[in-house]
Amino acid sequence: MAEVIIVNNEEAAGRIYAQCVADLIHSKPDCVLGLATGSSPLAAYQALAHEVKNDHLDVSHVRGFALDEYAGLDPSHPQSYRSTITRTVVEPLGLTPDLVHVPNGALSTIREAGYEYDRMIKAAGGVDVQILGIGTDGHIGFNEPGSSLASGTRIKTLTQQTREDNARFFDNDIDQVPTHCITQGIGTIMKARHLVLLAFGSGKAEAIAETVEGGVSAFCPASALQLHPHATVIVDEKAASKLRNKDYYRYAYEHKPAWQGI
Ligand code: F6R
Repeated sequence: MAEVIIVNNEEAAGRIYAQCVADLIHSKPDCVLGLATGSSPLAAYQALAHEVKNDHLDVSHVRGFALDEYAGLDPSHPQSYRSTITRTVVEPLGLTPDLVHVPNGALSTIREAGYEYDRMIKAAGGVDVQILGIGTDGHIGFNEPGSSLASGTRIKTLTQQTREDNARFFDNDIDQVPTHCITQGIGTIMKARHLVLLAFGSGKAEAIAETVEGGVSAFCPASALQLHPHATVIVDEKAASKLRNKDYYRYAYEHKPAWQGI
């Protein structure tokens, strides 16, 4: 089962992620980072950019693979995940742009793009640390409820709920939100060596309780994390509010030896 860390705010969560990744970059300068878009990882990327600057970390060899991309949205569109990853990760961290990959959402090649993306991840030696957000319906990447827990990267149909949640990035106009995407599968995500899932706010409380304490089920794709040997779930008090075993998670983290990291 995942380690659950309850923090006061997104900045505190971001610092934990940043420390973990900074340590990784020290020991493996060409490490492979799994990247997510959306609001949840933003403070973590900012904290990491801060570490990179303060510690004078050489990130020129760090490689990256994003989780997903909208289907049929031009990569130059400001809300494409290619643009978002460039703006929120590649530029602030100073990564080498050619080493950071985003699934190809072009409609003409989308049928083969998933296999090709999984092949590239494998050729890179696999993802070392995968950062994840979670949808209010329990999706990770864009694996909506019902997604096979063994799936590879492929095209998926977004749910109405996800399109409503993401309309805020498209002038609050759901009609501008694409209906399809290409996303790493749950099987792809589960191959990463360390998963770090971040969730904040009461809107995520139910999904987090299902993920951590519910049954493992395709109905809540994030519940697959229970089967991962190294998964860390970092949440604020609101996102933790529906967890039954909260006191134990707090106790375990408070008594964790510092050398253990996350
Ligand atoms: C984004 C992604 C999604 C988001 C999720 C939560 O690359 O894969 O699973 O992480 O929709 O989004 P936010 O963080 O905006 O609440």
